[in-house]
Amino acid sequence: MNMLIHAHSGLRWVVLLLLITATFKALMKWRSNAPFTEGDRKLNLFTMVSAHIQLLIGLALFTMSTKVNFSGEAMKDPVQRFFLAEHSVMMILAIVLITIGYVKSKKAIEEAKKFKVAFTYFLIALLVLLAGIPWPFRNLGAAWF
Ligand code: HEM
Repeated sequence: MNMLIHAHSGLRWVVLLLLITATFKALMKWRSNAPFTEGDRKLNLFTMVSAHIQLLIGLALFTMSTKVNFSGEAMKDPVQRFFLAEHSVMMILAIVLITIGYVKSKKAIEEAKKFKVAFTYFLIALLVLLAGIPWPFRNLGAAWF
């Protein structure tokens, strides 16, 4: 359980780093009319895969964590409510957006469209992720790593 929390906490940085790089690269290449390469597709793919691994660990934690309780009292406690509702819903939404962005970008025919679609979905996903992470300054009992 402790190991899973550490893996989940550390993997956040991998997801964030990949997502920020993929978003920025998509914007730059879209703006400069650059060709969509295999490298671009792989970066988007790795971003999606890292998010999916995080989803699996998150779902496992959801069933085991002491911070997730289904009693009526849970919604009255800020930490319990955060992990039961806010964190899980926002993170799943962000992962769905990353997945749609990857698939739509891959399916688009025009090169510029591939970057535009990836950029748009990834940027929204990034904002949702940043808002839904239990950063230490939010006092939810979570750490930086
Ligand atoms: C990319 C998506 C996600 C990111 C970046 C993320 C990030 C984090 C971080 C940083 C923590 C705090 C770890 C610590 O205590 O240091 C955490 C905790 C937690 N996450 Fe996620 N998470 C994601 C997705 C999910 C999903 C989809 C679920 C469940 C549906 C989930 C369930 C949980 C639970 C239950 C905890 C509390 C674990 C505990 O301390 O007992 N997470 N998450």
